[in-house]
Amino acid sequence: MSAPLPPIPQRLERIAPYTPIEPYEVLSERLGFAPDELTKMDANENPYGVSPKTRKALAELSYPHIYPDPESRALRQALSDFTGVPVPYLMAGSGADELLDLILRAYLEPGEKVAICPPTFGMYSFDTLVNTGQVVEIPRNADFSLDQPALLQTVKTEQPKVLFVTRPNNPDGGMPSAEEMQAMLDLPLLVVVDEAYIEFTTDGGRLGEKLSLIREVEKRSNLVVLRTFSKWAGLAGLRVGYGAFPQWLITALWKIKQPYNVNVAGTQAALASLTDLDWLAGNAAQLREERKRLFNTLQGISYLSPFPSETNFILCRVSGRSAAELKNSLAQKGVLVRYYTSKGLSDCIRVSVGRPQDTDRLIKALEELP
Ligand SMILES: Cc1ncc(COP(=O)(O)O)c(C=O)c1O
Repeated sequence: MSAPLPPIPQRLERIAPYTPIEPYEVLSERLGFAPDELTKMDANENPYGVSPKTRKALAELSYPHIYPDPESRALRQALSDFTGVPVPYLMAGSGADELLDLILRAYLEPGEKVAICPPTFGMYSFDTLVNTGQVVEIPRNADFSLDQPALLQTVKTEQPKVLFVTRPNNPDGGMPSAEEMQAMLDLPLLVVVDEAYIEFTTDGGRLGEKLSLIREVEKRSNLVVLRTFSKWAGLAGLRVGYGAFPQWLITALWKIKQPYNVNVAGTQAALASLTDLDWLAGNAAQLREERKRLFNTLQGISYLSPFPSETNFILCRVSGRSAAELKNSLAQKGVLVRYYTSKGLSDCIRVSVGRPQDTDRLIKALEELP
């Protein structure tokens, strides 16, 4: 018998235990459908998959046995060409998720506060708690718009060090207005703008370039912009994200990041994606088009009220029946949508935008329900 060791720190008690998502194969077996018979509209993945050049690059991967470049030099140069942001401001990560965590690991002292506007992406509060911070919530209005007066007041009284702004927001798909964004940037804190879905915005141009704030990072010392290849480029499974950071922050991030955070396959896939922009932008345009049809379809169902979305998903309020039961009934028919148990969302489902045949399958499944 060894001597008893000190316990796990108390602060971890505040973090809900990890609930793993069911892997695709396990789910397909449980529901009795082959994986390619499932219509996956639950995780905002890109139904068109990776670009042809990316598929080829992955098949011909030359150096999987060699460690990747810790500075992701080739990828950062290509990202600089793509975004117009100078290389020294850019860092790549194992998904935007890694960069979210890295920012808080570098910048938070124990007990310091991080402001979020729920409902929003769950990793902000998770990473805050893991990194010994305190979450300050400024709940959104019933229509999921930001409660701007409460936000400004809370920043004054609680003095958070960081504010996360999701632009457009997950799970409702709405965008903060330019005025709201400016007011947030004028606050005395680090504003982390998460643009995971900017490529799908209606007025963003081909791939979000007209609306992205990424080029503002050079001009401001309190702005970080995060982007990802997971959605528009279909690389969710390869984990490639990137961000633009002010110089004082990126210096600290370089010190603490794991050396080989972006792997060789992810790097090559992202590089190839950046040479196949026409193909990928074409799919983003198709998804924007299909979003309109999906919205009209959902609006036509008596018990669903969809929220207008600037992303590749649509949130719907479910009235007169249980959203959980609706999610389960659709799953039995091989159509997967997202359901949340969290506050303010338990009467909602979120449906990712798919190809026309995915919308057709959803329509059929909805029609067959009692
Ligand atoms: C708002 C938001 N940010 C970041 C991410 C994570 O992106 P990545 O796959 O690059 O880690 C997601 C994924 O769902 C998201 O919805």
